Amino acid sequence: MFEPNDQANALYEDPVVYDILHAPGTAEDVDALESIHTRFASGAPDTWLEPACGSGRYLRLAAKRGHRVIGFDLESSMIEYAAQRADRLGLADRSTFFVADMRTFAPYVKARSVGLAFNLINTIRHLESDDDLLRHFDQIASVLHPGGVYVVGLSLTLYGHEMPSEDVWEGARGRCKVSQFIHYTPPTDRDGDRLEQIYSHLTVSRPSGKTEIPSCYALRAYDEAQWRRAIDRSPLRVIETLDQSGHACRPEAPGYALWVLGRG
Ligand SMILES: C[S@@+](CC[C@H](N)C(=O)[O-])C[C@H]1O[C@@H](n2cnc3c(N)ncnc32)[C@H](O)[C@@H]1O
Repeated sequence: MFEPNDQANALYEDPVVYDILHAPGTAEDVDALESIHTRFASGAPDTWLEPACGSGRYLRLAAKRGHRVIGFDLESSMIEYAAQRADRLGLADRSTFFVADMRTFAPYVKARSVGLAFNLINTIRHLESDDDLLRHFDQIASVLHPGGVYVVGLSLTLYGHEMPSEDVWEGARGRCKVSQFIHYTPPTDRDGDRLEQIYSHLTVSRPSGKTEIPSCYALRAYDEAQWRRAIDRSPLRVIETLDQSGHACRPEAPGYALWVLGRG
């Protein structure tokens, strides 16, 4: 089904398909972010920043709930879609979207102005080296208000113990149905390139017919020590670790947790 020359970023080229597929669970994640803002950054400005915001699904809902939002992404089609949706919903006055890279975005955001920054569902793992991650953390630290927090949703890896695995995700809007089959091949060596290889196959069904979109990409892996070491080298520090609903938890590998980071 998958060929080595499948387009790496085809997954992120169609914002409508991405938005439909990821809509389930969005409201619950925004509920958790609101509760984190209240608990850990109540004195910080009500300005939310999402690096690599994709279609803007989280920020759209946050703006509907009254928060000021800023989002950016490498893909211009994602940003055009996010800005258009905000405009149509009458949210343009409290929404800002622009094309930028997680490693170099800070000049476009006012220093120390962000109360809550967040980066969920392993998106930070698109940064493929410690240098890139540290550049990103530096940029976050410069735009974060001294009382603000950065919430990172990350799955930790247990090298040598994880088998290749598969998942299926589904979403629908009107008469358009999207399903995604994903195959994950985790890295086995904590000292190698640490890239988890991911193959995705999207099937988009509309009344006009079916479209198949294969793609492949890599996400950088971290065990807990590697992740904590990277944070220790940055201007940020760990305030708390939470489960997906925002309850305090001890992160497990393999497993997903929210890391609440603050300025050191
Ligand atoms: C899994 S999607 C997440 C989108 C959004 N955060 C969400 O949860 O719906 C990953 C996004 O990261 C973007 N991306 C990948 N590397 C990036 C980088 N270095 N800087 C900015 N955006 C990046 C992709 O274009 C894509 O939209």
